[in-house]
Amino acid sequence: MRPLLVSLALIGMAITGPATAGQGVVELSVDVSKTGAKIDRNIFGQFAEHLGHGIYDGIWVGPDSTIPNTRGIRNDVVDALRAIRVPNVRWPGGCFADEYHWRSGIGSPRVVTLNPNWGGVIEPNSFGTYEFMDFLDQIGAEAYISVNVGSGTPREAAEWLEYLTTAQPTTLARERAANGHLAPYQIGFLGIGNESWDCGGNMTPEYYLSQLKIYSRFVRNFNPVQQDKQQMLKIAVGPGGGEPRWTEWTEAIMRAYQHHTWSWDIDGLSMHSYTVGQWPPSFASTNFGEAEYSQVLKLTLAMDDLVSKHSTIMDKYDPQKKVALVVDEWGAWYAPLPGSNPGFLVQQNTLRDAILAALNLNIFARHADRVRMANIAQMINVLQAMILTDKEKMVLTPTYYVFKMYAPFQDSTFVPIALDAGTYTHGNITLPRVDAIAAKDTTGKLWLAITNLDPRQTIEVEASLAGITAKSATGETLTAPKVDSVNTFDAPNTVVPKPFTAEVQGAKLALKLEPKSVTVISVKQ
Ligand code: AHR
Repeated sequence: MRPLLVSLALIGMAITGPATAGQGVVELSVDVSKTGAKIDRNIFGQFAEHLGHGIYDGIWVGPDSTIPNTRGIRNDVVDALRAIRVPNVRWPGGCFADEYHWRSGIGSPRVVTLNPNWGGVIEPNSFGTYEFMDFLDQIGAEAYISVNVGSGTPREAAEWLEYLTTAQPTTLARERAANGHLAPYQIGFLGIGNESWDCGGNMTPEYYLSQLKIYSRFVRNFNPVQQDKQQMLKIAVGPGGGEPRWTEWTEAIMRAYQHHTWSWDIDGLSMHSYTVGQWPPSFASTNFGEAEYSQVLKLTLAMDDLVSKHSTIMDKYDPQKKVALVVDEWGAWYAPLPGSNPGFLVQQNTLRDAILAALNLNIFARHADRVRMANIAQMINVLQAMILTDKEKMVLTPTYYVFKMYAPFQDSTFVPIALDAGTYTHGNITLPRVDAIAAKDTTGKLWLAITNLDPRQTIEVEASLAGITAKSATGETLTAPKVDSVNTFDAPNTVVPKPFTAEVQGAKLALKLEPKSVTVISVKQ
């Protein structure tokens, strides 16, 4: 259920008027006794496709590399990802998944193939099933495997799952053991195809549905510990936007789900939505000003309408919200960096992206009853990445720090807030000045995440807290000198969080939010 208070706040925002300067203190109120849905930790999921340097160089350097590694996997990257508590990683694609044949990536020697989707480069398959599962083990995340529906077969996918999950001494299990892993793996999530309406085979909803039913029936997880509890969740291909062809797609899948029989089922419907503006992507990822800053943030806020639109369709066929909306590709998609291979989707990551990430995470949290999983695209060196690498060098992006600051929201309980946000205007773009969410973590501690979108004005926020007596409120704030400030290999600390303290004034907190900043605080009682 979308909290009424937030909706009222948005109406309030719309009638507040366009002026930026001269707007007073922003009032925010939270009543901790009014809680909403759980903010599933899986909305902080990641996506790692065989694309550019996302896997090779980004994760995998091979055991003989001079770059410190554990069984070929970079130690610096593992340490950084552990610190943001990555809940799950979607792999091996993306479009790559519908051309991936898992047997190319097991045993020795590996089958060398091509990657026609992404630059037509050689795919050595050195990073395959064993390496992916080892990587997950090292970072402490769950597997979200996308199986090949486009150019594979149900049998191929079923055998991959048997290879991964059976505890019985089948031929495939023996092969897994011979390849280094005796025990069955746990697979948390199964993606049945990727963008099957486009790069995944340009299917009609009806054709995809017939495939979905077959894959859902036959691609089984045999792991004994995943039979009753911790069952593998099956995620169907869902929409890629809000236009009629996507709403028809959601209608078709959900209508079929409503009447599904014992022989097939789904637990999630995927949705892909990039902040892109137009295709091909034309916004520059660096060296931009306030105009592009405000345009991109305006575009990203459309995620809320898109989620609402598809949630409304899902509600019609699944009022109990059994099927999650899984936003398993989201983030900013800009023009490739000049001089980079355009097929590698290389872009910089600025303070604007940190704010964009916070706004989207807030949207997912407000829709936490339906959005129970999301995967930012992509984890390393591709699109809106957490981490950039260049040989032995590694740098953490502004987006990384937002994920780190938001980690306490994983599995927290949403607390609705009322917010009179006001507006910030640049040219013909008007945005809320402030966006915020609140949640209680599993220990009952209250957390607030507040973003000041205005790149020029410090904003004072007065937060009234009902049901809690605050003794102190501290946390971190993330900002930088410019909207396009970046962290580089040579200057990695331009956009990093710094300590933040709110003033406690009786039952209220007074916060001074720096321009263009993301702030996360916890309240001590
Ligand atoms: O993330 C890059 C690509 O974007 C993915 O491979 C595809 O699913 C989407 O179109």
